[in-house]
Amino acid sequence: ACVLVLHGPNLNLLGTREPAVYGAATLAQIEDDLATRAAARGHALTSFQSNAEHELVDRIQAARADGTAFILINPAAFTHTSVAIRDALAAVAIPFIEVHLSNPHRREPFRHHSYFSDLAVGVVAGFGADSYRYALDAALQRLAVPA
Ligand code: DQA
Repeated sequence: ACVLVLHGPNLNLLGTREPAVYGAATLAQIEDDLATRAAARGHALTSFQSNAEHELVDRIQAARADGTAFILINPAAFTHTSVAIRDALAAVAIPFIEVHLSNPHRREPFRHHSYFSDLAVGVVAGFGADSYRYALDAALQRLAVPA
């Protein structure tokens, strides 16, 4: 099956962006690691990052046609603002896991609300780059179980 990993704004800066909060791994390293792990278990994985809300909406809409079976999404700042990305995920009805490097609940109050969590299969937050690995594990587990 096909797993799509979506990254929101400023995650292209991982590695240099507030490393005390977000860790030292670059986005390319995270993406390579996930693709390798998915391939080892017989799944294809593609990643997409954008700083633009409409590009993430368009990519989610395209996922309906391209065979994506599961989505991992770190909406980044759009977590706390984007009804449009939430609606796109609801529209395509592809199961997704919400991922965060940091634990937003340990941070500023404006990060405590997510437009995604109540639609997500689950949320993995606070484990740095490992959050993506745990989320991928959970997604592959789900994909292995016949629907
Ligand atoms: C983030 C948390 C968000 O609050 C923040 O805006 C981000 C990254 C995380 O992965 O910890 O850009 O989604």
